[in-house]
Amino acid sequence: MGVLDEAFIQAPEHRPKTHLKHSDDHILSKEIPTIDLSSLQDPNCDKTALATEIAEACMRWGFFQVINHGLSLDLMRRVEKTVAEFFSLTLEEKRRVKRDEVNPMGYHDGEHTKNVRDWKEIFDFFLQDSTTVPATTEPEDTELRKLTNPWPQNPSDFREVCQEYAREVEKLAFKLLELISISLGLPGDRLTGYFKDQTSFLRFNHYPPCPNPELALGVGRHADAGVITVLAQDSVGGLQVSRRSDGQWFSVKPNPDAFIINIGNCMQVWTNDKYWSAEHRVVVNSSKERFSMPFFLFPSHDTNIEPLKELISEDNPPCYKKYNWGKFFAARNRSDYKKLQTESIQIDRFKAA
Ligand code: OGA
Ligand code: NI
Repeated sequence: MGVLDEAFIQAPEHRPKTHLKHSDDHILSKEIPTIDLSSLQDPNCDKTALATEIAEACMRWGFFQVINHGLSLDLMRRVEKTVAEFFSLTLEEKRRVKRDEVNPMGYHDGEHTKNVRDWKEIFDFFLQDSTTVPATTEPEDTELRKLTNPWPQNPSDFREVCQEYAREVEKLAFKLLELISISLGLPGDRLTGYFKDQTSFLRFNHYPPCPNPELALGVGRHADAGVITVLAQDSVGGLQVSRRSDGQWFSVKPNPDAFIINIGNCMQVWTNDKYWSAEHRVVVNSSKERFSMPFFLFPSHDTNIEPLKELISEDNPPCYKKYNWGKFFAARNRSDYKKLQTESIQIDRFKAA
């Protein structure tokens, strides 16, 4: 990536604070909630206590961290190793599995968030190989397309390890989805029907050291579009979350054995704004590279997202109009792929008048 190209430079109001003053200490000491999932090891456990903790975190922050989540730490280390090996290949080799205008999966080193380029390179793959998505962003066009994942030749164990990891993270995501449903006073399986043809994918982020970390961001401020995100990260740190009550940015203390869970736009809409899909961003630094691995739990393309009937009432009328997930996904992919002249799509567009 080399010197800082103009495309990476954030507007002054979005630049990170890289030099914290003493009076900013609270930014580092305040923590998103940590939830211990060890009680889930017992299949007959009472889930209500966990659901209560989750409800609190989803309302206040839209972010929490889980520990004792049941994923093998050995598997986490194996996937981290093969991912680091992949990113260490030459650009030429990585570009053999490059994302393009048709297939959003694979390697990409030119992602944009809100039309500013991110200081990162990524590799994405769908959980379901193949995955069905709309062929175009046109609302009236019903043509569908089946996409398969491009897999690199090297590292030789890459595909197998990544797919094994993806299956395990998916299990955790569905356990969390069940707890979230319970936390809303709904049956544990209330939301599972939306994932029959899920468009979920796993992403590997690599943030190289950046010569001007005060001007750029690894990922610009954004809220995740899907239902929930289950993210693993190494020990470097850089993820910051905007607090719901006042928009202040807080750094998340990294724990490579934990997962960060955050609420996405779909869940915010389903819960009619009860649960919060927080903006977050990634600060980079000039000396250390960083890796992270978000799993984006996304519904089937034909899911129409709107506030859940059970959660609205005369006193709590729907805050959003219905929108189609597949079309939203297609439009978002286009705007992330390269810089566009227009604003990228956001859920605000579907706010009820
Ligand atoms: C993302 C994201 C955070 C991180 O990829 O959507 O927010 O810590 N990543 O890498
Ligand atoms: Ni994100």
